Parts: sequence; structure tokens; C-alpha cells
Amino acid sequence: MNPVIEKINAAVKSAAEKCAAAAAAADIEAVRIEFLGRNGLFPALSREMGSIPAEQRRETGAAFNAGRQQIQQLIDEGVARFAKGGDESAIDTSLPGRRRPVGRKHPVMEIADECVAIFSRMGFVPVSGPEMEDIYHNFDALNTPADHPSRDEQDTFYFPDGRILRSQTSPVQIRVMETHEPPVRIVAPGRVFRRDTPDATHGMNFHQIEGLYIDRDVSMADLKSVLLTFAREMYGEKINIRLRPHFFPFTEPSVEYDFSCVVCGGKGCNVCKNSGYIEIAGAGMVDPAVLKNVGYDPEKWSGFAFGLGIERLAMLRYRIPDLRYLYENDVRFLEQF
Ligand code: DAH
Repeated sequence: MNPVIEKINAAVKSAAEKCAAAAAAADIEAVRIEFLGRNGLFPALSREMGSIPAEQRRETGAAFNAGRQQIQQLIDEGVARFAKGGDESAIDTSLPGRRRPVGRKHPVMEIADECVAIFSRMGFVPVSGPEMEDIYHNFDALNTPADHPSRDEQDTFYFPDGRILRSQTSPVQIRVMETHEPPVRIVAPGRVFRRDTPDATHGMNFHQIEGLYIDRDVSMADLKSVLLTFAREMYGEKINIRLRPHFFPFTEPSVEYDFSCVVCGGKGCNVCKNSGYIEIAGAGMVDPAVLKNVGYDPEKWSGFAFGLGIERLAMLRYRIPDLRYLYENDVRFLEQF
């Protein structure tokens, strides 16, 4: 008998004793690891096989296979023994299943996706643009005067190389028009950044969805109907909208628009501060100067643009009183959606 066969016989004996003494499924598993595991005895023995004289190989190989089979059988029996109960690490098939927690979409993403779906049905194509922008696309091309306060370092995050974190999704309008011939009909949802002090209605980074429609003979009536359709798809058939004159550098005329209060329906309540309306965002007819900046002929093409704050829409939909809840990632809050 050569030394390898001796080791095999000793291993079978030792495995049998250990399996007999096992008190739990884990002990059986330890036997498997010791003898048959990747770094266990049998793989090591198989490497020793090469040093066996040729005339003994056949006998040794047979002993090796038989030993390994015996140990595997001991292990199988051991596993079956503990699976039948009596051991707490075994599976009790009579217990009810455990429900795993299921992840869900964040309410902000939920609303963003809904916005995109609504505008897609009206023919707007979703696009995206970079969060790290240059001054040209975020301000200059959008006809923003050199001394406009929004350019200030107090309001916008600047990188040392002069680029910025975009303060609005409006630069995506420019990027699309620069690379596409009219007509254009896009929406661009995304993250924007401002140096605001966070409070119940302001955050340093939040989400907007930008809309742009350029074609021949586009009018303010088209803008109003798109906004009204959006409002009703989002909050129900009873919603009305109103446009108020405003100013944006990139639109002329510009408006701010309000939805009739989604809570009281316009009668007046604390959400709408008794006005019956809730301010939503800005919009307007694209300024001819912006069209010229991207090489469109303002005599031929006209269009409208609008911006929406996604957190604002989410707060109205779910009656969330404070924007900060959306970012604290408190699961007690998030689990409600
Ligand atoms: N970019 C504006 C903002 O951040 C929102 C806005 C207003 C977008 C008017 C537009 C627009 O496209 O026409 O406040």
C-alpha cells in the first residue's frame, strides 16, 4: 500500500467519524470543505498522484475514486439528516415565506417619467443635455444680458475652468437647435443646480423639464393649449390654467403660468394661500435673438418654450409640504409611494 492510499483510507475513516458526531448541517458542510472542497484534501491528493510509480497508478486511482465517493455519500446522508428537522439551520418548509422589500421609483423620478409620457403623447421627443455646461449655452445663447443676476457666483456654481453646473434645463434648447434643422419638438428633463439656501421650497439641486416647439406659424394659443392639456393629464379634467405676463431673456412675450389649485379646485385654501391658483413655472415665445443665435431664420420659424419644476409638481401631486423630504431619503417617507 502506498502513502496516498493510506491517506485516502484515513480520510474516509475521519470523515465518517466527523459526520457521525455532527450536531448541525454546518458540521457536515465543514466535512465537505475539509475533504472535497476546492482547497481540501482530495484535490491535494489528486496532485500527488503524479509522484506514484506507474505500476501503482491504477490501484491508487481506483482507491481515490472510491474514497471520494464514500465521503460524498456520508455528506449527502448528513445533509439529508439535518434537512429533516431538529436543527435550526435546516430549512423548515412549513414556515410562511418571507417577503423581500421591493425597491420603487423615487417620487421625483415617477413624476419626471409621467411628464415625459404626457408630452410624448403630444409628439414631444425626450432628449437630454449635459449637467456640466458652458456659459455660452446656459446664458449667452439664451440672450441673457452680461449683467443678469443669475450669472452671479452667488447664484450659479462655477468650476475653476469657467464652466458651470447648469442653472436651468434651457441650454438643452440651444444644443438641440444647433444640431437639428426645424421643425423641433422636444422635452428635456434633468437636474439643475443653484446656490440657493435650502428651505421648504428651494434646493441646491432640483429637476426641471424643458419644452421647445419650433415650426412655422406657432402661436401663443398653441403654447396655452399644450400647457392646459398637460395640466389636465397631470391633475385631472377640472384643472384650469392662467398665464401672467412676465420676463425671461430667452422668450418674448414671456409668461408665468399658474394651475388652478389642485387641492381646493380654485375656491381658496392654505395650499394656494387663498388665491385659488398655484404658480407652476415660466414659458413664452422663443425670442428671435435666440433663433438667430442658433442659425434659424426668425422670419421663417417661430416657436414656444416652457420650463417646469419637477419637485413642485411632485409636491402638488402628493401634497408634500417641504421639498427637503424628497432628498433626506428617510425610508419612512419613501415607503409611502
Ligand atoms: N429656465 C427658466 C427657469 O429656470 C424656466 C423657463 C422659463 C424655461 C421660460 C423656459 C421658458 O423654457 O420659456 O426659471
